[in-house]
Amino acid sequence: MIKRKIILDCDPGHDDAVAIMLAAASDKIEILGITCVAGNATLENTKLNALKICSLIGKTNIPIFAGSNKPINVDLVTAAHVHGKSGLDIEGSLIEVADDYTIQDLNAVDYIIQTCLEQSEPIYLCPTGPLTNIALSIEKEPSIKNNIKKIVFMGGAGMSLGNITPAAEFNIYVDPHAADIVFNSGIPLVMMGLDVTHKVMVNDEIIEDFKKNGNKSSYFFADLMNFYSKFHRKLYETSESPLHDPCVIAYLIDPSLFKGKFVNVVVEKDSLITRGETVVDWLGVTKREANCTVITEVDHKSFFSLLKKELKSLN
Ligand code: RIB
Ligand code: CA
Repeated sequence: MIKRKIILDCDPGHDDAVAIMLAAASDKIEILGITCVAGNATLENTKLNALKICSLIGKTNIPIFAGSNKPINVDLVTAAHVHGKSGLDIEGSLIEVADDYTIQDLNAVDYIIQTCLEQSEPIYLCPTGPLTNIALSIEKEPSIKNNIKKIVFMGGAGMSLGNITPAAEFNIYVDPHAADIVFNSGIPLVMMGLDVTHKVMVNDEIIEDFKKNGNKSSYFFADLMNFYSKFHRKLYETSESPLHDPCVIAYLIDPSLFKGKFVNVVVEKDSLITRGETVVDWLGVTKREANCTVITEVDHKSFFSLLKKELKSLN
């Protein structure tokens, strides 16, 4: 079976970590490289976290590249309130980086451009953080648009409330100008926004069930979720937490798990009140040209069965 070749651009980040594990485990995906961006934490932390995650799951063959340490036009806003200062705070044992596993010298933007141009077939870009690296790659070398099959990204919200402001989802809020470049790029887009990611909620029952896999990566998932759920329990006053980023990878593994609609999406870039809002024209009232498949439904049961099975296949 032909594997889907991807670049996973991320800001690990607890849910980014689960997305990395899912992609690394699946026999339907080939991770060409992981590129890191500032978002949940500073770039210093997100790149270190990516090294730690791949070390823990025994996938140090995956090259990791450092990208942008700040958004295109605005100051960096991080999410220490969700992910801790390191971006990957967990209770439990410290995660070590494997010996000789270091960040590649080539910067992420040039890696994305080089990889898109050298691959014989168009590849998938899978951003699960702010879209800064993706936007800068498109701006620097527009011709890569022909070498990108799809950008499947976690970000935005259509009919849902925002999670960093009432209007905006975090990834889009952090770099709205980058998001605007991506939405206007003409590249096929699939948006995994809060409308769908809030339908894959992790709770204690799921965490305990995953631990029955009995392997290191599943215990790591449990440690991640136990920390990550603290913020969400407080904010949403429920014992459940949205597993945002793995939705991107699950879509590549089995798109039939999801349902959405091809509509127009525009981003508010500059308003102090609604910066980062993704205005999803679900009913087509603006007559603006559709530019993005916005996902709103997921088969919750099959999603978690897939995730549990794939985590069990790791070390
Ligand atoms: O709004 C949720 C998104 O922002 C997720 O990708 C999370 O990791 C943070 O990057
Ligand atoms: Ca993320």
